Amino acid sequence: MSLQEDRKEYLSSELGDNYLSVDPKNLFKEWLKDYRAIVKQDSTAFALSTVGDTGNPDSRIVLLKEIRDEGLVFYTNYESKKGRDIKFNKNVHALFFWKELERQVRIKGIVTKISREDSEKYFSTRPRASQLGAISSNQSQKISTREDLDIKFNSYYSQGSENLKCPDNWGGYCIQIKQIEFWQGRMNRMHDRIIFEKTMSSQWNSYRVQP
Ligand SMILES: Cc1cc2nc3c(=O)[nH]c(=O)nc-3n(C[C@H](O)[C@H](O)[C@H](O)COP(=O)(O)O)c2cc1C
Repeated sequence: MSLQEDRKEYLSSELGDNYLSVDPKNLFKEWLKDYRAIVKQDSTAFALSTVGDTGNPDSRIVLLKEIRDEGLVFYTNYESKKGRDIKFNKNVHALFFWKELERQVRIKGIVTKISREDSEKYFSTRPRASQLGAISSNQSQKISTREDLDIKFNSYYSQGSENLKCPDNWGGYCIQIKQIEFWQGRMNRMHDRIIFEKTMSSQWNSYRVQP
């Protein structure tokens, strides 16, 4: 099987120089809205990269759950591998690939935990099965067999408590955006790339880079 013939032309849109002066948060929201109009499942998924104490980067998919003035919110287990990485190093990278629109967004940011109150509020809105999943999984930790995992889940499941409590080690993180790049595929690989960087005075500095 040859992978070399897997080629396409990117023709669907463009990012003119007028985009250099837009608010990148609004552009991000607009692009996400465009994507959600055509992709119904897991449309907010992105690759989150962290670097822990070994210095090796690690990436995994998580779901964006809220866009705040302060940044982008996702939820996870604070003691997972990513949680441990973040404790060591708050610099993260978020990568969105919106294939159907020939778009990519790359974000460099700094993460902080959201308030306990907000995490608990969100947890209470999750389906019960998802709540049980969060409660019964020590995310990223070793477990001998699938059966052991199922036994853990079923033991919580059968307790049948009405209001499940958000575990202390589970909650949200907010990625404060320091840099964001918008990539729009163009013809002949002459893609559009516009980067916005947060300045010391919290303004956006924008520039175009070559594809
Ligand atoms: C579509 C999709 C969505 C996911 N969403 C989340 C999420 O929102 N939060 C989360 O902790 N893990 C999510 N995961 C699982 C992560 O990719 C990962 O397996 C898990 O968080 C453990 O990562 P870690 O060991 O690096 O901490 C998702 C996976 C996929 C494929």
